[in-house]
Amino acid sequence: MPPSDHPAASDRPTALSASAGPNTGGPLTPAGTPTRGEPLLVATGVRKSYRAGRSLGGRSRVHAVDGVDLSVAAGETLGVVGESGCGKSTLARLLVGLERPDAGQVRYAGTEVGTARGTRRRELRRAVQMVFQDPVTSLNPRMPILDVVAEPLDVHRLVRGPVARRDRVAELLDMVGLAPDMMRRFPHEFSGGQRQRIGIARALATEPRVVVCDEPVSALDVSVQAQVVNLLAELQQRLGIALVFIAHDLGVVRHVSHRVAVMYLGRLAELGPAATVYQEPAHPYTRALLGSVPVRHPRERGRQRIVLAGDPPSPVDPPAGCRFHTRCPIAQDVCRREEPVLRPPGDGAAEGHVSACHFAGAPVPVGPAA
Ligand SMILES: Nc1ncnc2c1ncn2[C@@H]1O[C@H](COP(=O)(O)OP(=O)(O)O)[C@@H](O)[C@H]1O
Ligand code: SF4
Ligand SMILES: [Mg+2]
Repeated sequence: MPPSDHPAASDRPTALSASAGPNTGGPLTPAGTPTRGEPLLVATGVRKSYRAGRSLGGRSRVHAVDGVDLSVAAGETLGVVGESGCGKSTLARLLVGLERPDAGQVRYAGTEVGTARGTRRRELRRAVQMVFQDPVTSLNPRMPILDVVAEPLDVHRLVRGPVARRDRVAELLDMVGLAPDMMRRFPHEFSGGQRQRIGIARALATEPRVVVCDEPVSALDVSVQAQVVNLLAELQQRLGIALVFIAHDLGVVRHVSHRVAVMYLGRLAELGPAATVYQEPAHPYTRALLGSVPVRHPRERGRQRIVLAGDPPSPVDPPAGCRFHTRCPIAQDVCRREEPVLRPPGDGAAEGHVSACHFAGAPVPVGPAA
């Protein structure tokens, strides 16, 4: 049976082996435990462009996110991967409502994020949270951790009185594997990994149902990355939240994602169940990110390597046709003319697996790009 789009508990990916901290097994549960599999956050045709700097021609625009359809379900981790500048952070801000799309929509449980007002807007702000890339700059250096973590509690009036406030912060710190007495200290007294744990505690303070993590481990030492990745995976599983995990490296999200989306120059190149995307990547860009791809057919035994040459083209003026054609080793004339749409890569494609390539899954010639 092909893997389902929205996984059941039994096909949950295994977390990495490193410990997530001593205190992540308690009974904390968010209010209103969600039904697994229900799409919670849905982006439809979202676009966002910015005015380009003067060096790029004054009136021209950077097409940061240029037509993306994506959804994430309760109880699911969606990995979003792509090179620097492909629009991941912009997409993250659109998903949580920090920015409004120029076109398209983001809906949380049916309500449009970004245009909601009043009570509905407050509910949305509470339900959809973000963990930022850099735990240092996203924390106010003059605030003790108590106030850093309690800020969302204060904003949403979720606790009454200083004792309840302190107790809740202690509970949240415990949840992310930090000792409650650390709440008296300041951000600079913590290591990078600890600061990211604090950022996660703060995001969880409002009992969100969706958490969007924008490269949460990119600024951390490799040795610490697995611990934070594991913590996120365990919390996601325990709380049943929908997690969007953004990274620039497919390896980082490999063991924790149920589905993976690969972005290139503001669009999705490939989307599918994680096992399929890693084992049978259909898009040449995904294959390049993976470095090499195992070949299924015995006659093609060996490994076909795709080496990514150069930097991506500018999002101010993306290439016509397929955006990847300037770097693709199997590009044909049609690729320069016609933009490929996301579709299943062949008849036997796994459910939910789509790729934007005219020649998805085709063999790659050995040797340098044409
Ligand atoms: N506020 C902004 N103003 C102008 N350009 C921006 C802004 N935010 C992002 N960009 C541009 O949009 C593109 C995508 O950026 P970003 O979403 O940060 O990508 P990523 O997170 O994948 O590195 C980049 O070319 C970036 O320079
Ligand atoms: S459409 Fe053409 S250029 Fe684009 S990825 Fe596929 S083969 Fe390469
Ligand atoms: Mg970014």
